[in-house]
Amino acid sequence: MGRVEYSSYSCRVETFGESTTTAAPPVAELHLHIEGTLQPELIFALAERNGIELPYADLDELRAWYEFTDLQSFLDLYYANMAVLRTEQDFADMTRAYLARAAAGGVRHVEVMMDPQAHISRGVALETCVNGVASALATSVEEFGVSTLLIAAFLRDMSEESALEVLDQLLAMGAPIAGIGLDSAEVGNPPSKFERLYRRAAEAGLRRIAHAGEEGPASYVYEALDLLGVERIDHGIRCMEDPALVERLVAEQVPLTVCPLSNVRLRAVDTLADHPLPAMLAAGLNVSVNSDDPAYFGGYVDDNFAQLVAVHGLSVGDRARLAANSVRASFADEARKAELLAEVSEWERASVG
Ligand code: HPA
Ligand code: ZN
Repeated sequence: MGRVEYSSYSCRVETFGESTTTAAPPVAELHLHIEGTLQPELIFALAERNGIELPYADLDELRAWYEFTDLQSFLDLYYANMAVLRTEQDFADMTRAYLARAAAGGVRHVEVMMDPQAHISRGVALETCVNGVASALATSVEEFGVSTLLIAAFLRDMSEESALEVLDQLLAMGAPIAGIGLDSAEVGNPPSKFERLYRRAAEAGLRRIAHAGEEGPASYVYEALDLLGVERIDHGIRCMEDPALVERLVAEQVPLTVCPLSNVRLRAVDTLADHPLPAMLAAGLNVSVNSDDPAYFGGYVDDNFAQLVAVHGLSVGDRARLAANSVRASFADEARKAELLAEVSEWERASVG
């Protein structure tokens, strides 16, 4: 296999009078795990290229595993499938495939999380995974018109010592990372476990985000803010169980990167109709819509928007607000933010016809 074939996609289109626009506005994607973009077809292609025998006979057998009961049941498959990522080219191909698909769905800026510990723990060099992803990001503006930043996410079910060691290695090699995040199995691994890691990242001038309040309780959101000093919360949906926390998040306009299809597939909510996103918007929370692990959860950002429109009737104004929130909550520079906010306004104007 020389080149990766990008899978075809269909953009859902809405027509308003004379103007034709997509359901999804131009957005910044702020919650995206690059390893979660590994599509089944690419898993088989990379396995073949690397001479790896998969425990699945074919695509259907692999897809039969995409039925999750909770976060851990997803993580088990997510980590197992990473076995096909061996070379810089593998990481670059995966990243380029995501960028092509995301760009077609309206993503104009992305802050890509990657999980270095998940690769070095299985014998892949840190340079291999970082340089592979970074090489595809480096040509993204030119190839896809998508600006990018890279965020190193640490696995909260591993020790803080391991995270500190990897952060030091990333800093020593001059890895092009803008910030750090915290992901993997949440319950039982509170933000308080990583205070030293976040202090060191702050000292190194890195931006800080963390998953909190996905499966874990609202108290983890407080910890992420107060003990880790994070600038954004990934997920955060369980804040809705704590009115005092909602009040604080609204007052401080803390960005929450919400992933509706992920929440349904991991059973954090029962159905999309039960998803709190409309209530979060109505409460004045600073929410955005993101895909999390699009290859596993049934869709990219535009699919999330299309289904929110279908199920919740999300208005053009609400969608424009979600998009503007994503741009303002991004770590892009002010000039890029201004450019993207103008695109959101233009999309809104064209969409209301
Ligand atoms: N939650 C926590 N960790 C993750 C996720 C997620 O949705 N995706 C990849 N790692
Ligand atoms: Zn996530």
